Formats: sequence, C-alpha cells, structure tokens
Amino acid sequence: MAQRPKRTKLKRLKKKLNDSGLTAAQKLVAKANQMADPMAAFVDLRKYESDGLVFHLECKKASLLPQATLDWAFELLKRNMQNLYEQCEWGWNEKAKRDEMTDEMAWYLTATASDNQLVAFSHFRFDVDYGDEVLYCYELQLDGAVRRKGLGQFMLRALERMAFSLRMKKVVLTVLKLNPPAVAFFTALRVSCGPDSYTLDDTSPREETDGQRDYLILSKKNRKRGKLKFS
Ligand SMILES: CC(C)(COP(=O)(O)OP(=O)(O)OC[C@H]1O[C@@H](n2cnc3c(N)ncnc32)[C@H](O)[C@@H]1OP(=O)(O)O)[C@@H](O)C(=O)NCCC(=O)NCCS
Repeated sequence: MAQRPKRTKLKRLKKKLNDSGLTAAQKLVAKANQMADPMAAFVDLRKYESDGLVFHLECKKASLLPQATLDWAFELLKRNMQNLYEQCEWGWNEKAKRDEMTDEMAWYLTATASDNQLVAFSHFRFDVDYGDEVLYCYELQLDGAVRRKGLGQFMLRALERMAFSLRMKKVVLTVLKLNPPAVAFFTALRVSCGPDSYTLDDTSPREETDGQRDYLILSKKNRKRGKLKFS
C-alpha cells in the first residue's frame, strides 16, 4: 500500500490561508446581508436627475418589497429579456426566474419617477462566488421610456459604491452576447473609465475549455481594498 504523502509546511500554510480566507469572505457577506439599507450612508445616490426628469432610488431586501413591486419587476424583465433568453442556451423558465427573483438572498435597487411609477430595478446579491466576497448583479433592467438618460450607469455606480464600502472584492455580472445594447453599454463604460472598469472575469467561460457559450461574465475590482487578514 502506498504511503499517504506528507503535507509540507508550505502546503499546510496554504491550506490554512485558503480555509481562513473563505471564512473571512463569508463573514463579510453575512455582515453585508445584515444591513437594513446598504445605501443609507450615500444620500447622493437617492436621487438622479437627467433631461429635466427626477428619479428616486431605494434599496431593500426582496423579502421587504410589496408583492406588487416584485410582480412589476418580473413583468419588466419578461418584456426586456424573454425573447433573448429564448434565443440562447438558458431558455425562458418563468417559475425558475420568479424563484430566483424572490430568493431570500435577493436585494433590490429600484428607481421611481416623479409620478411614483417604478421605472427601473437591479436585483443583486452579496455572495461568495468561487471563494470571493462579491456583489453579484443578477439584473439591471430599465423601462424603455427611461433609457439613454444615464440612469443605468448611475444605478451601476450605486451598486459599486455599496459593494466597495462593504469591502466586497468585486462587482460581477453576466451579459448575453446577443444583447448588443447591453454590450454597447459596458463597452461605453470601458471607454469612459479606462482600465478601472468592467473586464472579463476569471470565471467567464473560455472557448478552449467551455466551448461556445452565449454569455460573458464581467467584473469590476475593488482597487481600494487591501488583502483580508487571516486569523
Ligand atoms: C442596458 C441598459 C441597462 C443601459 O441603461 P441606460 O440607462 O439606457 O444606459 P445609459 O444611459 O447609462 O448609457 C450609458 C452609455 O452606454 C451606451 N449605451 C447604452 N445603451 C446603448 C444602446 N442601446 N446602444 C448603444 N450604446 C448604448 C452609450 O454610450 C451611453 O451613453 P450615451 O447615451 O451618452 O451615448 C438599458 O438599456 C436596459 O435596461 N436594457 C434592457 C435590459 C438589459 O438589456 N439589461 C441587461 C444589462 S446586462
């Protein structure tokens, strides 16, 4: 019988760092998820004005939103995305989508116009993704009437500020390749922000190993955050 290989000191140290790193990531995520309102500290994110229009932003857990708001969000997503989902590998599964959107981990950033009509939302989560503490943006959806006014960009910036203030390592999101406006949106951000913007995440599928996939995973790193301390 072969002898079990002995762990070298270096391997033991690496394992310790990995184990405690994951615990630290989970702690940061748990802390973020305990917030009543992760946007509370950012008064300037509560209001966005463009083209003479005023939008009010709010951040809440899905479990605290009225059913009417969740229904509105689902209908907007359906209007914007069903067609695209049906054309790609994901397909459109209404029950699975509703379950995802009302998961206990789900947070919502919503935007309301001055007539109190909801016009945009982002479903996002604080979560551990491949061992990293991240803010994962599941959806960013605007009603057709309020697009190209900078609101999408403003909402994404709001997510970034919340994420980075809560020491998340990055903001991660998925973009369908067959959604040219969304691809143009992120390309524009890269042009205006340079390297400090969204780039292909390490977890994005690679053609060599994963074959042709319909989506990209993009992320923006928290440059200000130092390494976590290992206890
Ligand atoms: C994609 C989306 C979130 C963008 O939000 P938005 O508020 O319309 O975008 P912004 O006004 O902040 O756009 C910022 C820049 O992105 C680029 N851009 C945005 N939409 C674009 C489009 N349809 N075509 C080309 N460029 C676009 C432009 O350069 C724009 O700047 P400009 O208007 O000064 O030229 C919005 O169009 C939307 O909700 N689409 C439907 C849902 C969807 O596809 N969501 C997926 C997001 S991953």
